[in-house]
Amino acid sequence: MYIIRKAQEKDISEIVVIEDMSFPVPWPHFLFMSNMGNPGFIVYQEKKRITGYAILGTFMNNAHLLSIAVHPAHRRHGVGSLLLQKCISIARYYGYENMTLEVREKNLEGQRFYQANGFKEKESIEGYYLDDNAVRMQRKI
Ligand SMILES: CC(C)(COP(=O)(O)OP(=O)(O)OC[C@H]1O[C@@H](n2cnc3c(N)ncnc32)[C@H](O)[C@@H]1OP(=O)(O)O)[C@@H](O)C(=O)NCCC(=O)NCCS
Repeated sequence: MYIIRKAQEKDISEIVVIEDMSFPVPWPHFLFMSNMGNPGFIVYQEKKRITGYAILGTFMNNAHLLSIAVHPAHRRHGVGSLLLQKCISIARYYGYENMTLEVREKNLEGQRFYQANGFKEKESIEGYYLDDNAVRMQRKI
């Protein structure tokens, strides 16, 4: 039994553990704190544990996926896709017709995940990350 719900302050310590295992340059605690109140900051909760999160924002009049991660022990079971689908529903609710995101060029697994969820590469952005270029991806929602 799982629920996808809005993130709460008490979730952040568990989110940070997932974050640290998921990204070479993880977001610090305060960046998650600063997203409290964002209706697009959601968590996947199963048996009282947080196993994934996603954060939606906006960029250039599009809904923009700021971040998404799933605990390594829970990957490839559809959790990421459910979180992404929920972000898409939220964005539609707010009237957006497109969703964009950036992913590290080296993160081929992330790119496969987005492709499997209907995103297509739009452009490459050199030097977007301190340690990598970005691939900007987009899909109609
Ligand atoms: C990317 C991520 C969020 C995917 O979460 P997930 O719960 O494992 O994804 P799903 O189970 O919903 O995967 C859906 C489909 O995406 C594709 N996919 C997901 N992970 C993949 C991988 N590592 N390699 C290749 N394809 C992958 C597959 O087609 C998969 O379907 P399948 O399992 O039936 O083959 C997770 O791997 C993660 O947290 N990675 C680290 C952080 C990250 O890279 N975030 C995204 C970039 S910002």
